[in-house]
Amino acid sequence: MTKIDLAIVLISMFIILSLHSIVGNAAEAAKSGEEPKSKHPKEETPEDILKAHNEFRAQVGVPPLVWNETLAKYAQVYAKKRVNDCKMEHSMGPYGENLAGGYEDSTIADSVRFWATEKPDYDPASGKCKSGGFDCGHYTQIVARKTTNVGCAREKCTNGWYYVICSYYPAGNIEGEKAY
Ligand SMILES: *[C@@H]1O[C@H](CO)[C@@H](O)[C@H](O)[C@H]1NC(C)=O
Repeated sequence: MTKIDLAIVLISMFIILSLHSIVGNAAEAAKSGEEPKSKHPKEETPEDILKAHNEFRAQVGVPPLVWNETLAKYAQVYAKKRVNDCKMEHSMGPYGENLAGGYEDSTIADSVRFWATEKPDYDPASGKCKSGGFDCGHYTQIVARKTTNVGCAREKCTNGWYYVICSYYPAGNIEGEKAY
């Protein structure tokens, strides 16, 4: 065996061992029920977005949402309309609506989990936000019992941020109304 042959064998072994450890880590993550962190926003599916919503709904005993292409299309059209200013301004359409500014590698599901950080602020007994005002309104839209359908979109703005919008039907984030 020449020195070059030996080097090739060693490099091949290194690659095989590395692959083994990557596959092993993915299997480990699957076993513990953790989301693999490597999912690229471009690979995100409606199922991923539904799952993010439905986990928070299940926590409070509310039935899961289903994906609706009409809503996804509506969200897409509005997101495209905002790419030049990326403004967190509501579309004033007929649907419930959550907006967020996202990073290049953050998914829509990440935005859903971000909205849901308002959960501790919601008081289910009164149906109000503990902080007063409507600061838990993103969370209440996620878990609203009367909402059954969702569709979301994500578009890159000219300033480099990502515009994230989810549209909900029937609208559930109505101030003064209990979410569930
Ligand atoms: C999807 O959403 C649209 C718009 O709100 C609604 O009219 C339609 O019934 C929904 N589709 C389904 C299958 O629920």
